[in-house]
Amino acid sequence: MSPTLRLLSALLLPCSVHLARAATADGFVPPSRSPLVQTSNYTSFSNNTLNDKRVVKGKVFNRIIQVWLENTDFETATSTPTFESLMEQGILFTNYNSVTHPSEPNCQFFPPPDLSPVEDNIWSDVAAIGGDFFGMADDNMYHIPSNISTVVDLLEDKDVSWATYQENMATDGSYAFFFAAPNYASPESPPYPYYMRKHNGLVVFDAISQDSSRAKRIRTFNDFANDVVNGTLPQWIFVTPNMVNDAHDTTIDFAASFLEYWLLPLLTDPRVNGEDTLILLTFDENHTSTEQNRIFALALGTAVPLNLRGTTDDTLYTHYSSISTVEANWNLKSLGRQDTNPIVSNVFSFVAEKTGYKNVHVPASQVPQFNLTAVTPGALTSALFVPFAAPNLKARGAGSGGVLTRPGLDEKLTPEKLPPAGEHDRAEQDHAVADEPRDDEREEYHPLCGCAVCVSKRVRICSRAVLHAQHSKSDKMLSFLTELYRKNCIIRVSPEIYIFG
Ligand SMILES: *[C@@H]1O[C@H](CO)[C@@H](O)[C@H](O)[C@H]1NC(C)=O
Ligand SMILES: *[C@@H]1O[C@H](CO)[C@@H](O)[C@H](O)[C@H]1NC(C)=O
Ligand SMILES: *[C@@H]1O[C@H](CO)[C@@H](O)[C@H](O)[C@H]1NC(C)=O
Ligand SMILES: *[C@@H]1O[C@H](CO)[C@@H](O)[C@H](O)[C@H]1NC(C)=O
Ligand SMILES: *[C@@H]1O[C@H](CO)[C@@H](O)[C@H](O)[C@H]1NC(C)=O
Ligand SMILES: *[C@@H]1O[C@H](CO)[C@@H](O)[C@H](O)[C@H]1NC(C)=O
Repeated sequence: MSPTLRLLSALLLPCSVHLARAATADGFVPPSRSPLVQTSNYTSFSNNTLNDKRVVKGKVFNRIIQVWLENTDFETATSTPTFESLMEQGILFTNYNSVTHPSEPNCQFFPPPDLSPVEDNIWSDVAAIGGDFFGMADDNMYHIPSNISTVVDLLEDKDVSWATYQENMATDGSYAFFFAAPNYASPESPPYPYYMRKHNGLVVFDAISQDSSRAKRIRTFNDFANDVVNGTLPQWIFVTPNMVNDAHDTTIDFAASFLEYWLLPLLTDPRVNGEDTLILLTFDENHTSTEQNRIFALALGTAVPLNLRGTTDDTLYTHYSSISTVEANWNLKSLGRQDTNPIVSNVFSFVAEKTGYKNVHVPASQVPQFNLTAVTPGALTSALFVPFAAPNLKARGAGSGGVLTRPGLDEKLTPEKLPPAGEHDRAEQDHAVADEPRDDEREEYHPLCGCAVCVSKRVRICSRAVLHAQHSKSDKMLSFLTELYRKNCIIRVSPEIYIFG
């Protein structure tokens, strides 16, 4: 064991959770009095309101709200009481899969004996927005060029309004890698990194984050309260709870308490779950990468037919199904990527039936493996790099009207025209996968931060930014910290607090 390794082992253990003022046995504390009351626990109050009063009628639903939790096995969710009682109100999809699994956590520097491996990724989030994860196999600060279309282009093409609500994001349209906010559960503790860019799939696409009218639709939970109260909640909504409420840094029971606080009251609020609303409660991926990647996914809301509530549906679905279902519902164009690959993009059955879309039955022998990582070539993997290719322009989606493309797309650059993975210029790869530092990111960190910036290869952290690695599910963060330690970026480390300088 090297001295560095020994030092880290000594410093990093034991890790424990300290949540003072716990409101529930699992430690959950509500950030506000109600999901519809703005709170100073969320950094920025809402400044503006959307103007989305027009409703574009869908064939089955007029609004879809996706709520994504993190890294939990199907059986874990289905045996948790809050989820069990929600299952009585909706359709449980028993064969809903994530799209890929991350690589093994990078623990070779210091295998922390009391920490179980945890996987994490942004590619599920990206896949559910762009219809592909472009080979991604880690959660660096990627961005995807503006010639790549997303579900947002499809929605806007038919005037369907949209927004994402990201809990504890500092400001609308934030481009920051993470945001550490005052710890509202334990005010005497240092700020907690509640917001992570890796759970905000929309911001990764330049076509969204670099367009100011679209960026303002990347919104905070205070904006959510504002938009509901103002009656301007959009029609397509993606909700990301913070790193403790989504079970990422905590447990399924903690996330269940969050749902009791946040989702349950909204289910009975007609401003949210009004006429013909579909709420998809799901997870980015399951926890155990050596098995397939089935996740809990539950269709809730007024759009779920009464006779189907409390039932299950074993059709093969993936995160791409959330795009194809939206295409079928509003008769949208398609992305011509995995959203049009019939094997992985079945439309939710109750929507398929009413829209006339024919789902495919995929025999067990032909079900793709959803637990593989770093085997898919793409522009966001250096090992198997190929440039961003055009989609399949001849693909047929679940709506109608062809494949929607964006300016700057070389339509002739189809996957077949690209040289095989690996035979590309190294400079081109680095350009594609690494993001350039941006000045405006510095402003987004907590006031505790100074102005110096500590630069690892691709990640910038504000000087004196304070992070916790105080829970057993944070070893991905620990390996990241180790990397920074090796580069002499960490100036002080205690068992629970890491300070960069
Ligand atoms: C912030 O959260 C804490 C913990 O639940 C709560 O006690 C406090 O009232 C909240 N502040 C506001 C302004 O809602
Ligand atoms: C509202 O505007 C102020 C001033 O520009 C900004 O500091 C704050 O973060 C904004 N709120 C949101 C939710 O973006
Ligand atoms: C609508 O939003 C604006 C801007 O945040 C706010 O000032 C106003 O009070 C809201 N209106 C209602 C009816 O809540
Ligand atoms: C993926 O899941 C299958 C089926 O459970 C399993 O046989 C296989 O070993 C897993 N692959 C990996 C790389 O874990
Ligand atoms: C992950 O999903 C697969 C189903 O595809 C399931 O068999 C497996 O049990 C899940 N992992 C765990 C540990 O439950
Ligand atoms: C999309 O844009 C990127 C960045 O400009 C470029 O490298 C790539 O070749 C383009 N892809 C297509 C298919 O036009």
